[in-house]
Amino acid sequence: MPAGRAKVFVTRPIPQAGLKVLQEQCGWVTVSPHDRALARQEFLRAIGGQDAVLCMLHDRIDAEAFEAAGEGCKVFANMAVGYDNVDAAEATRRGVMVTNTPGVLTDATAELAWALLLATVRRIVEADRFFRSGRWAGWGPLQFLGSDLAGQTLGIVGAGRIGTAMGLKGCGFGMQVLYCDMVENQVLEREVAAKRVELERLLGQSDVVSIHVSLTQETRHLIDERMLGLMKPTAYLINTSRGAVVDEAALVVALREGRLGGAGLDVYENEPASVAGLVELDNVVCVPHIGSATSQTRGKMAIMAAQNIVAALAGRRPANLVNPEVCRR
Ligand code: GLV
Ligand code: GLV
Repeated sequence: MPAGRAKVFVTRPIPQAGLKVLQEQCGWVTVSPHDRALARQEFLRAIGGQDAVLCMLHDRIDAEAFEAAGEGCKVFANMAVGYDNVDAAEATRRGVMVTNTPGVLTDATAELAWALLLATVRRIVEADRFFRSGRWAGWGPLQFLGSDLAGQTLGIVGAGRIGTAMGLKGCGFGMQVLYCDMVENQVLEREVAAKRVELERLLGQSDVVSIHVSLTQETRHLIDERMLGLMKPTAYLINTSRGAVVDEAALVVALREGRLGGAGLDVYENEPASVAGLVELDNVVCVPHIGSATSQTRGKMAIMAAQNIVAALAGRRPANLVNPEVCRR
């Protein structure tokens, strides 16, 4: 079917630039009227009979969703780089294309990771709360002591696009950079003399550990109680990847017992819920999954997701197809 007659459903209002691409090239574009995640039944009903769906990381795209969409649905375009919410293997079996939005959010996410890192290490949020409370009685030599970054070691777990951007910026703060990844990262090694080490060694030697792996079977609870136990009691953990890469309950215990310096979190195991005890801790900075949340980046993500849909509907291979095997069926 030509894209011009296709029906597209967008599961939540997105930046106008992305909608414009769809509206110019597709027949019927329906956008959910609600600026919230659709409830499961609402979602399943809404995608029924669509030729394409532009979905969010909070939409679970599994066998039930493919059934609900029906056989005519050619593509699910996730407006996120991570696609652990999509059962891509099932999509391939059914001949459905799945796309994501890599690259355009690399800097925004690395910048947010740095914002969290600085806020955590220098206790910015805790100090802001204190200031606003009216309890500040003037400067003090022992007030709100954090940690230096210059001369310290930054450990990057997962040196893909975002991990690389994170590591490069470490040089600007005078940090030594370690990384752990399945493959050698020549950019990090050449630009900031980063050293590739095993995860255990990285955790033991780093003063700040920042996580940048995608969530898969292999990385679920990668940072568990044992791994947390390898970290220095003064070290900080920053997570802007996916919550389930870290065993959150074990993290809360480690933080509470002073076995870690602090944590800066953008992602959680069961979003939007937070694990018991987390928000009571002063040495944690928690933000609500805003890694890619800049006007420019969200605009680019929306355009990219829309262009992936237009390509798929026109019978072309979308630029950001995550299950290329689907084309060989
Ligand atoms: C956000 O978390 C994304 O994967 O784009
Ligand atoms: C890059 O951002 C650097 O400062 O090295």
